Amino acid sequence: MAIQAPAARPANPRFSSGPCTKIPGFSLDMLSDAPLGRSHRAAIGKSKLKEAIETTREILGVPAEYRIGIVPASDTGAVEMALWSLLGARPATMVAWESFGAGWVTDVVKQLKIEAETKTAEYGEIVDFDTVDFNTDVVFTWNGTTSGVRVPNGDAIPADREGLTICDATSAAFAMELPWDKLDVTTFSWQKVLGGEGGHGVLILSPRAVERLESYAPAWPLPKIFRMTKGGKLIEGIFKGETINTPSMLCVEDYLVSLNWAKSVGGLKGLVARATANAKTIWDFCDAKPWIANLATDPATASTTSVCLKFTDERIKDGAVFAKAVAKRLETEGVALDVGAYRDAPAGLRIWCGSTVEQADVEALLPWIEYAFEAAIAAQA
Ligand SMILES: Cc1ncc(COP(=O)(O)O)c(C=O)c1O
Repeated sequence: MAIQAPAARPANPRFSSGPCTKIPGFSLDMLSDAPLGRSHRAAIGKSKLKEAIETTREILGVPAEYRIGIVPASDTGAVEMALWSLLGARPATMVAWESFGAGWVTDVVKQLKIEAETKTAEYGEIVDFDTVDFNTDVVFTWNGTTSGVRVPNGDAIPADREGLTICDATSAAFAMELPWDKLDVTTFSWQKVLGGEGGHGVLILSPRAVERLESYAPAWPLPKIFRMTKGGKLIEGIFKGETINTPSMLCVEDYLVSLNWAKSVGGLKGLVARATANAKTIWDFCDAKPWIANLATDPATASTTSVCLKFTDERIKDGAVFAKAVAKRLETEGVALDVGAYRDAPAGLRIWCGSTVEQADVEALLPWIEYAFEAAIAAQA
């Protein structure tokens, strides 16, 4: 029997996990207020950067005493700025369960050569946070973008910890609740949940992180783009929009437009609800189909943004070849772009469900996944 292609297609096939799809209805005309060709140090530039910081604080509910800075080199820049500036004062614990967390382990253990305990889990699993010593500095990722496994909540992090918690929250911020009292350093980039642009990172520091910056000088040299202190004092300007080097005012405008859209859908609550509904649509599909499953083994840790799926049908001969064929067919049909699993992750699909994705598009995609799956099974024979 010939396999029938579904009748309807997603209106928007962009399910990439970064850069993620722009806000619904986006057009470049929305950026016409960008102060192009003006200095970012002029009043107009500074006011845009300050607005970006203040609106970030408002939507994410970041406490007033926490600093928020816009920094170079996207999320990676923000994380590495924190690692290079803060670590070394006490032992560290590196917690990793997928590729990006593993990258931070390399930074700390191989490059900085800091005394660190490394705790890892396989793709689909998570490290038991109850076994982590929070009197060390702990580095972890809130949502593992390449495995679709996230920290369920901050309950395991003690309020009276002696170490700092350094959290890469790039695929969580704006789609998941983050417990600010448990996080000393939080980073993200604009290109993820809000569908912004790459290149700029956001670094959020608790008062304890600032205290560390002001009381500890690492033994290694710090390049200018990592330096947050001068003469042992925090450079406060960085956290008011006086960026270390030149940002793209076009990207800043784009971020402001995204933040305004975020407010229009109900702020953080609305954003979280959108991502959760999108992910649940896929979870329900997996529950109903015996041939596909969430890579996350525990539903409590299943990501609501980067939903990673594996094919479980016994007829599949070569898992990697099979998953690639499915992803390719989805792309060729124009129903899902960039949904192959990350290069280091187990074979499968990764479907971004963050807040800029429309639930109707996820719903329209699912029959196509079944169609592409059946076609790939037939092609094997
Ligand atoms: C968890 C995580 N950390 C870090 C990064 C790197 O982000 P960027 O390319 O914005 O530096 C990504 C990008 O996908 C990510 O998912």
